[in-house]
Amino acid sequence: MAPVHVATSAGQYPIHIAPGRLQHVADSVPANATRLVIISNPVVDGLYGNALRQALADLNKPVFTIIVPDGESFKSLDTLNTIYDRMLSEKLDRRAVILALGGGVIGDMAGFAAATYMRGIRYMQIPTTLLAQVDSSVGGKTAVNHPLGKNMIGAFYQPVSVDIDIHVLRTLPAREVSAGLAEVIKYGLILDRAFFEWCESNVAQLVALDADTLAYAIARCCELKAQVVSADEKETGLRAILNLGHTFGHAIEAGLGFGTWLHGEAVACGLVQAAVLSGKLLGLSAADIERVRALVRAIGCPDIAPDLGEDSWLDFMQGDKKTEGGEIRYVLLPAIGQAVVQAAPLNLVQETLSETVGDIAIDRSAVQTRDMTATQA
Ligand code: NAD
Ligand code: GLY
Repeated sequence: MAPVHVATSAGQYPIHIAPGRLQHVADSVPANATRLVIISNPVVDGLYGNALRQALADLNKPVFTIIVPDGESFKSLDTLNTIYDRMLSEKLDRRAVILALGGGVIGDMAGFAAATYMRGIRYMQIPTTLLAQVDSSVGGKTAVNHPLGKNMIGAFYQPVSVDIDIHVLRTLPAREVSAGLAEVIKYGLILDRAFFEWCESNVAQLVALDADTLAYAIARCCELKAQVVSADEKETGLRAILNLGHTFGHAIEAGLGFGTWLHGEAVACGLVQAAVLSGKLLGLSAADIERVRALVRAIGCPDIAPDLGEDSWLDFMQGDKKTEGGEIRYVLLPAIGQAVVQAAPLNLVQETLSETVGDIAIDRSAVQTRDMTATQA
């Protein structure tokens, strides 16, 4: 498959997507790199660290690995400091290159370490979750969390390459697959009605991790994200549409406590809530709202939001980075395949909450079988 290219202010970089790409990562390493630093966590390093180190061996460059604890709660300034400590004690120079091997947590944190170490060194993204392959590894948003807000300390800083190996998804827990598929659906909803319809038709194969179906979906998401990032690298306008479902979703994550629902699960539910609000404000049809709900259910994600209490909902949504001058701005859908960003009257938001919040039962029946048959890559 031909690489997808992302054009940015600092030049363009390739996204390579292929089964087995991990074995060819050396092709993406800049020739003048002095040392290579793999940043990963124990789970991903245990599964794929040796394969990556083996793939780099022929380059004859010194490689060392920094392992940080697994989980969103470790995407923090404290963990980042341990990364700086190690890089400084290893006396890494400015031509060292970081390789981020993991999901969005590793990618965001390693990217921010690269953005800030000696005012910026190069880094490569090697995403190993579906969410990271279709979204977080592309576009240069890097960050760590602050106790007062998710992703609040960060930088726009683009990688030199993204290498996506579809085979690594075979070991991903089913719940993480569902969460990644929420971001896949998102691209169809905001930019490409035909892709949304393709997802509806191919949802069983997506959930089952059929390699050809996945390869097409990942490539289409990367193409769409590359177009948006190339047009608006630093989110002065268009890029905000990538946050469909995230205003509601971030409120769910924060309201329940980060990690209770996965980011993608909260976004999936937020897609339904954004569709309901779009119906009230922009006339999205009842049939289209139902299609969004049905696809969210089909990927095994929740379509009913938790009851945080109306005041808490509004309070948490206020904390969204799209809020301007105290006014919450939502990504909304005039139709499937089109998105706008705008404020909404409070009474319509209240109606949306009352219609989308309720007793939660997540139907994971679609993903159980695949989970049991998952093989090691
Ligand atoms: P994650 O990085 O926590 O990974 C999920 C879990 O899967 C982890 O336990 C991880 O160890 C494990 N894992 C990773 N790859 C695996 C594999 N191949 N096999 C088995 N297990 C594997 O979560 P995520 O969903 O990838 O990323 C979420 C993060 O991404 C959040 O912090 C979010 O803020 C961020 N994000 C960033 C952007 C962006 O544009 N930068 C976009 C979306 C999300
Ligand atoms: N995930 C949203 C963005 O990259 O802008």
